[in-house]
Amino acid sequence: MKAIVLDNFGGPEVLIPQDIPFPSIDSHEILIKVYASALNRADLLERQGLYPPSGKPPKYQIPGLECAGVVEQVGSRVTKFQIGDRVMALLNGGGYAEKVACHELMAWKIPNDMSYQEAAGIPEVFLTAYDSLVQKAELSFGDPVIIHAGAGGVGSAAIQLALAGGMPVLTTVGSSKKANFVSSLGADVVVNYKESSFSDIALKWTNEKGVKAVLDFVGKNYLTDNIKSLQTGGFLVIIGTLSGSEANINLGQLLAKRLTLRGTALRSRPIFEKMQLIKLFEDRIMPKFYSGTLKPIIDKVFPFSKVSLSHEYMETNQNIGKIILSLEEGN
Ligand SMILES: NC(=O)c1ccc[n+]([C@@H]2O[C@H](COP(=O)([O-])OP(=O)(O)OC[C@H]3O[C@@H](n4cnc5c(N)ncnc54)[C@H](OP(=O)(O)O)[C@@H]3O)[C@@H](O)[C@H]2O)c1
Repeated sequence: MKAIVLDNFGGPEVLIPQDIPFPSIDSHEILIKVYASALNRADLLERQGLYPPSGKPPKYQIPGLECAGVVEQVGSRVTKFQIGDRVMALLNGGGYAEKVACHELMAWKIPNDMSYQEAAGIPEVFLTAYDSLVQKAELSFGDPVIIHAGAGGVGSAAIQLALAGGMPVLTTVGSSKKANFVSSLGADVVVNYKESSFSDIALKWTNEKGVKAVLDFVGKNYLTDNIKSLQTGGFLVIIGTLSGSEANINLGQLLAKRLTLRGTALRSRPIFEKMQLIKLFEDRIMPKFYSGTLKPIIDKVFPFSKVSLSHEYMETNQNIGKIILSLEEGN
């Protein structure tokens, strides 16, 4: 099969499809014929050799944390799927390939009217956003939240989930095109961080009380303003560190406001925890895709042969929502 194997690390030019054997499956696994896969920022770091796969090193280091396709083989103890089922899956890697093996509980069915390309854009960002909002930030109906990088993959998923759960959203973006997009999702307040201070606007928006939680992907540059924006007892959830990971923190403010600072990483979590999260997501959130309340946001689809261009594109910060790799015939 064709796969992107990371034999060398570096720029997008190292992403060259090569031929390797099909993966074999064990008794609880399924083999998915991949029709679409999606990019994540972690893939860019992995490509540069800065984010090695967690756990036992695989024989072939293939990036790709999610995919959508058809079940082609089932292990002897698989009960959840049959051959021919359309599925999406959260992966530990291996998504940039024509076939991938995964545990049956890491996959779930695709709604009938959803394409493979749309489905491939769901697992990583919606699971991260759901976990961050509900389990890490402990938000509930009516709690105001700041969601940074609102037009990105995780940000746009988090805005939709927060609004569906009745949480008012202030979001930050870096361009007027992205501002228009997050407004169309229904965000209550949109701040172009290149023009205004989000913390000043957040405090005004909440009558100086502050928000209940901040979902942050930016790290260093936002730390002071994130803490300033939070109400007493609030939660700062660190999901990414796009501007840098080392910053000074005023512990006095953390203490005085009784804040909770939480970091989160989906990929490195034990598989059992990921399965629990997927089960909750299937039961509580997937129905919202069937009803149309939630939708995957797809920016651009690249054919698998152009994977290096897709990485170059993500590195320019232009994408609104997800960047997809198509492995369907003809690409
Ligand atoms: N912890 C986890 O489990 C987990 C899971 C998934 C993703 N992540 C992380 O979450 C972050 C977002 O992922 P994503 O998939 O949403 O990425 P994405 O779709 O590429 O969106 C990221 C956006 O962040 C903004 N941005 C980039 N650098 C910035 C900076 N220095 N300051 C302010 N904004 C900046 C850009 O939008 P603007 O043009 O609006 O600035 C960019 O388009 C990444 O760091 C990723 O690694 C973590």
